Amino acid sequence: MTTDSRAGGTAQQSALRPHAEDAFADELRALAAADDRPRPERWRLSPWAVSMYLLGGELPAGGPGGGTVITPKYVGPRRLVEVAVSTLATDRALLLLGVPGTAKTWVSEHLAAAVSGDSTLLVQGTAGTAEEAVRYGWNYAQLLAEGPSRAALVPSPVMRAMAEGRTARVEELTRIPADVQDSLITVLSEKTLPIPELGEEIQAVRGFNLIATANDRDRGVNELSSALRRRFNTVVLPLPETAEAEVDIVARRVDQLGRSLDLPASADGAAEIRRVVTVFRELRDGVTADGRTRIKSPSGTLSTAEAISVVTGGMALAAHFGDGVLRAGDVAAGVLGAVVRDPSSDRVVWQEYLEAVVRERDGWKDFYRACREVSA
Ligand SMILES: Nc1ncnc2c1ncn2[C@@H]1O[C@H](COP(=O)(O)OP(=O)(O)OP(=O)(O)O)[C@@H](O)[C@H]1O
Ligand SMILES: [Mg+2]
Repeated sequence: MTTDSRAGGTAQQSALRPHAEDAFADELRALAAADDRPRPERWRLSPWAVSMYLLGGELPAGGPGGGTVITPKYVGPRRLVEVAVSTLATDRALLLLGVPGTAKTWVSEHLAAAVSGDSTLLVQGTAGTAEEAVRYGWNYAQLLAEGPSRAALVPSPVMRAMAEGRTARVEELTRIPADVQDSLITVLSEKTLPIPELGEEIQAVRGFNLIATANDRDRGVNELSSALRRRFNTVVLPLPETAEAEVDIVARRVDQLGRSLDLPASADGAAEIRRVVTVFRELRDGVTADGRTRIKSPSGTLSTAEAISVVTGGMALAAHFGDGVLRAGDVAAGVLGAVVRDPSSDRVVWQEYLEAVVRERDGWKDFYRACREVSA
């Protein structure tokens, strides 16, 4: 008997959140079949196909994979994606920078999946990230028993990516202590990782590159050293430019998330999505959408990512405790939670917005009432 669900093919357990390369395996396969452009060594796809995977499109009919629709993963300026992808084909690493919730992690995962077929060579940066996470560690039992050997060495994701010619990812680079960050400098400039204990080194194989993400708001936590910054091409991911684009992103992601969480398909929630996005954008920008009324901005970031979770939460409420239709009452509590981070100052901002803007707006009576109810 085996407990490996793959072996029996029965009772397949599905991951709560499958990796990009699994969730979009069909699209990646179709793209690889249709893609006849030159691929950099060890790339699964050509740079052209990688950017199509990210931005979406339809494969030309007639050819292999013909007619397959590639869903857009990233909604934003095409040029940014092209710069990011072509950076990965050079010897410079890629740094994705931006305010919270601008899809840095998301883009990094999809880039790694499309380029290397593997998005899991990941170092999660925190204040406690140690050098072993970036270089290598040891299996201490084996180290003590046999002394340092290749077998006792525990490679980091970065080391494995170097050895296999794949894409490594470092999340939240600026949260990593400066001395640990600096151990990336040799990796990125010399493309080697010395192992002095063994008198050896790992040389990066062609195809290796690294994608790091960092948050704009964390600047100053651990400033990137200029030596390290020079090794990166920086791509800044912006907040969605228009309300339409943001509504589109939220609707798309909510739909995907809803399906992966098995939420019963909710009847059209477009109106509530638009409302949540409008509220978030107005509070973020400090002015109403028509540009007429200035308002104060609360302390939270009110990012697209937060709008996605407010709406997903609302969908769950509607599905399990309502009639399946997303209504104002299902999103009001989520909106309040996202806006009022600081109980005193943000609450004042919210009340002002509610009374001065929401209350007066045509067709927003239900939303106003729902918000009043949860704010009380
Ligand atoms: N422009 C966009 N296109 C597609 N999806 C987006 C976009 N902006 C945000 N999202 C969605 O927002 C969600 C959160 O994004 P992600 O976690 O990658 O943000 P982040 O920039 O890494 O944030 P943080 O700084 O908090 O780590 C993802 O589900 C992503 O799909
Ligand atoms: Mg992130």
